[in-house]
Amino acid sequence: MNKISRQLFRTKDLNSILSESHDPDKRLKKALGAFDLILLGIGAIIGAGIFATVGTAAAGDAVRPGAGPSLILSFAITAVACGFAALCYGELAALVPISGSAYTYSYASFGELVAWIIGWDLMIEYGVGNIAVAISWSGYFVELLRGLGITLPPWSTIDFRSAMQGFAKATELLNSGVSFEQLTPGLQHAWSAIHEAPRIFNLPVICNMPASLIIALLTIVLVIGIKESSRFNAVMVTIKLLVLGFFVLVGAFYVKPQNWTPFAPNGFAGIRAGAAIVFFAYIGFDAVSTVAEETKNPRRDMPIGIIGSLVICTVIYIIVAAVFTGLVPYPLLKGSLAHQKAEPLTLAMQYVNLNWAAGIVALGSIIAHTAVLLVLQLGQARIFFSMSRDGLLPGVFSRVHKKFKTPHINTIIIGVTVAIFASITNIDEMVDLTNIGTLFAFMLVCLGVIVLRIKEPHRHRAFKVPFNPIVPLLGVGSCAFLMTGLPAVTWIRFMIWLLIGLIIYFSYSINHSLLHPKNRA
Ligand code: ALA
Repeated sequence: MNKISRQLFRTKDLNSILSESHDPDKRLKKALGAFDLILLGIGAIIGAGIFATVGTAAAGDAVRPGAGPSLILSFAITAVACGFAALCYGELAALVPISGSAYTYSYASFGELVAWIIGWDLMIEYGVGNIAVAISWSGYFVELLRGLGITLPPWSTIDFRSAMQGFAKATELLNSGVSFEQLTPGLQHAWSAIHEAPRIFNLPVICNMPASLIIALLTIVLVIGIKESSRFNAVMVTIKLLVLGFFVLVGAFYVKPQNWTPFAPNGFAGIRAGAAIVFFAYIGFDAVSTVAEETKNPRRDMPIGIIGSLVICTVIYIIVAAVFTGLVPYPLLKGSLAHQKAEPLTLAMQYVNLNWAAGIVALGSIIAHTAVLLVLQLGQARIFFSMSRDGLLPGVFSRVHKKFKTPHINTIIIGVTVAIFASITNIDEMVDLTNIGTLFAFMLVCLGVIVLRIKEPHRHRAFKVPFNPIVPLLGVGSCAFLMTGLPAVTWIRFMIWLLIGLIIYFSYSINHSLLHPKNRA
């Protein structure tokens, strides 16, 4: 092996990884138990996916067929793929209970270059995923305020590009004789945003303010402390479970079994497209692994937290999907407007004339989104923390607050970045990018199980994936299958993202790594 490839594939030895978390200056507070972890998992999982994307998954859109009532199969297929990955995460998180999650496992199994790639890629899952959820949160929040009689100025609740695109489309329709009232609410919003926006140097000032404000607020909670964050999360999880329970119990009285036929109006194509969309709903169970260093007994509790939260959410999702598709007939769903599809559960309640119940569901949705934002942002900070402790990112990312014992500077930098992008980007682009980045991370985690079983066969594993290497390979295959369902433009964006990461690695990280001979003590 020549010098450069030795550098690129230098692996971290598991003993040294495990001993680092003992450094008193870079140690996080151990405060979490198995129950906290399950709640954190549910906190990260149930959010925009079930409250927003199921509408498109069931009804389809301009470019993909809908699953209709077979949405429950879409959820089941995706749950199986995630289940394989969750088992692999469970084994690795118990074996290497360090806050870097998939990044740390890759460092021990594949070496530094792959670890860097995965750490960089996880930024898509947590950071970009959070941007998408913040935008969706803002949509629900603005609607809820409107329901209470408070209307925010349109230029403060939309991103610039969506406003410009909507404005162009609206202008075209208005010029062709369509009246303003006939425009869809989304186009009316974009048109008014451009017209009413304050101007600087004649440029309209347009941004999604609620999306950035919620991120700013949560950043403060995260800086204050892990136990406080976890308590805040527990309250939000309880509320969202109650609201989904409420939806199922009330909705069940209005379900018409005839709405479930035809079961799969677009056959397997619809089920598959639905599966690729609802994948977003499952993202988050792996975030549990990022708080391994803050867990009192990670070897026992990590697998329980990861697998437990995934199983609970799968059961909830399938029941909610069954009730939802039993309430609203597929043809009506297919014909509904895009913004109605983005609030499918409230649409279902309104359809059966339960407007009061729709309000409760909308409020629950906002709270659910908030929990996802909290946990994903927490996870992102923990991954940067580990990368910085290894020298791949500047040291400021692993500085711990003396009193709060949280990686405060890191959390604030991430908060500000996510807040800025949440105010200026478009949700659709962010969701697809999140899915591809996450699936890629899952694949590497599954492969990591196989590699570490070969490299470290005798190390004690508190939890073992059954039937190795069959189950990890099934994980790799099923994630690859879901990835192929994503559009070409997403693949291109993903490649560009990885390329930027490689440039940073070769210009900074490779020389600052603690494994570089000149940095070894
Ligand atoms: N699974 C998370 C959500 O649905 C990302 O919001």
